Amino acid sequence: MEFEKVVQNRHSVRMFTDQPVERDVIKEIVSLAQRSPSWVNSQPWQVYCASGDTLQEIRDTYQKNDQDGKKINPDLAVMSRNDWAALPQGNMKQWGHEIVHHFTDFDEAHSTMTNASDTLNNAPVILFITIPTASPDWSIFDAGAFAQTLLLAATNKGLGSIVTYNSVRFPDDLHRIMNVPEDQRFMAGVSIGYPAAQKINDFRSDREPLDKLLHFS
Ligand SMILES: Cc1cc2nc3c(=O)[nH]c(=O)nc-3n(C[C@H](O)[C@H](O)[C@H](O)COP(=O)(O)O)c2cc1C
Repeated sequence: MEFEKVVQNRHSVRMFTDQPVERDVIKEIVSLAQRSPSWVNSQPWQVYCASGDTLQEIRDTYQKNDQDGKKINPDLAVMSRNDWAALPQGNMKQWGHEIVHHFTDFDEAHSTMTNASDTLNNAPVILFITIPTASPDWSIFDAGAFAQTLLLAATNKGLGSIVTYNSVRFPDDLHRIMNVPEDQRFMAGVSIGYPAAQKINDFRSDREPLDKLLHFS
C-alpha cells in the first residue's frame, strides 16, 4: 500500500471479528516494527503475543476484576483529565462529543464503548509491548515509536488495529498469565485482527488544524 494511504487508513478499530491472524503475519509486522528508531539502538521493547485460551483468560480475569471492583494499577500512571494541560484536555473533550454524535445518543455511545472495553474489543490477538523496569523515559518514547510502526505495518497488511491502555490495566495478571518476567513494564497492548462490520468501527476521529500545532520561526 502507498505510504500516505497506510497512514490515512490507520484508525482505531474497536470491535474485531473472530477470524484469527496467521502467526506468519504477526511475525512479519513485528519484524517491521523492529525497524523503529530507539535511543542508541537500545531496542528496549519486548512483545508478548496473546491469543486463543491465553487471551480468553486475560479477558475473563479483567471482567472478574471489574466485577470485584479491583483497583487498576497500570505501569504507566493514569492522570486525571482535569490535570492535563488545556490543549490536550480540550481535544479529549472534543473527542467525547464526536463519539456521542456518531451514535444516536450518549447512552448508545456509552454502552457500545463499554462493551468494547469489557470484551477487549473481541480482538483475536493482543501484542503487549513491554520495556525493562530499568529504563529511562526515553525507552517509553521508543516503545511509542515501535507501537506506531506496528500499527502501520498491520494496516499495510489489511488488518485493523488499536493501541489500548485498557488491556494493560492489571499488569500483575498479565505477568502471571503470560509468564512475563517481573523486570518488565507494560506500556500498552496493540490489538490486531479483522474489523467487524459495526457502527463503532465507522467512527473517525478529527485532528486539529495544522496551524494550531506547527510553529515556524
Ligand atoms: C497510549 C494509547 C492508549 C489508548 N488506549 C485506548 C483505550 O484503552 N481504549 C480505546 O478505546 N482507545 C484507546 N486508544 C485509542 C485512542 O483513543 C485513539 O488513538 C484516538 O482517539 C485517535 O483515534 P484514531 O486512533 O482512530 O486515529 C489509545 C491510544 C493510545 C495512543
